[in-house]
Amino acid sequence: MPLVDERELLKPALAEGRAVGAFNANNMEMVQAFVWAAEEMTQELGKPVDLIIQLSPGASKYAGWALGAGMVKIASGESKVRVALNLDHATEIGEVQKALDNGFTAALFDGSSLPMEKNVKLTRQVVQMCHAQGVPVEAELGKIPKIEDYFDSNGIAHLRGLSAPESVKIMREKAGESVDKLMAKPEDVERFVEQTGIDFLAAAFGSIHGVWDDIWPVRVDRLVAIQERTRLPLVSHGSSGILMSPQDAQEKGIKLVAGEGTLLDAIKTGGVSKVNVATILSIAFIDGFVGAHQQKPSEKDFRKLGAPGRDRVKEKVKEYMRLFAGRPRKPAEAGKKDSTADLGAPE
Ligand code: G3H
Ligand code: ZN
Repeated sequence: MPLVDERELLKPALAEGRAVGAFNANNMEMVQAFVWAAEEMTQELGKPVDLIIQLSPGASKYAGWALGAGMVKIASGESKVRVALNLDHATEIGEVQKALDNGFTAALFDGSSLPMEKNVKLTRQVVQMCHAQGVPVEAELGKIPKIEDYFDSNGIAHLRGLSAPESVKIMREKAGESVDKLMAKPEDVERFVEQTGIDFLAAAFGSIHGVWDDIWPVRVDRLVAIQERTRLPLVSHGSSGILMSPQDAQEKGIKLVAGEGTLLDAIKTGGVSKVNVATILSIAFIDGFVGAHQQKPSEKDFRKLGAPGRDRVKEKVKEYMRLFAGRPRKPAEAGKKDSTADLGAPE
């Protein structure tokens, strides 16, 4: 079906205490993986599973704005899944205009690096131009940092080689205090929402962009305090790195301190209705692609490498969709193999 307005997906999700996954695409295989995951989960759960596909300004420039948006529109048009197309982390008004020109059905304006007054002013301007075309706007309050703000590439490679509790310990020591300071302040929420006129709020609640695996606890106490001050759907950013569920925390041996929680807690008690996931899907694609190539270094048919990458992404997205539907993965599912071994790609 044609792309839908993101409000049509998030308003009912908020009312029903569930979340919709917002997944970042960087190529055709990822767009397919997201739509197919939603179709398969609709079958598995016996009820419609909605989907938000996101293109960042970087991804839009990489593909070309028209081709990137066009791919999502066509994939959506061929499916029964309800799909919204969101521009992720626009920092310039011109990028938002490009999204409007190319039929996006939502936009995130990220003014979180600006002083508060400038963030409010520019966000309000974006809201006016988007609402004039019937497009809703998400904005960021506080700042969601990225892992590269704290560790260089060697440091990140080192952390990736450690156990989850060891990584979290080092991350807490190096980044914990700073991440806390960057969180949105509950007392700013009402004024920010009222003065900007936004539709969805990405309030920083302790997550970090770009973490390679789901190991990091977030501050659900802060999220609850924010939620008490607005009725808007809240958005979780940097969700690749967030622990999926209390069961997940236990299995990984990560102890939560008072006020901390997992993605499932953020959805169930913190009003999170949109969950943004990017890094872990990019890694899944690369792992599938490279794994297939390692198995057959002489392979020269791109599709026989792209298909296992796509399968990995699809399975990861289904894990998230299961969680959002209140069905966290079982331990047995955690180690399940994908079809990397099957190099048979469609002709
Ligand atoms: O806006 C996109 C997200 O916040 C993705 O963050 O790459 O850490 O999953 P992530
Ligand atoms: Zn983000």
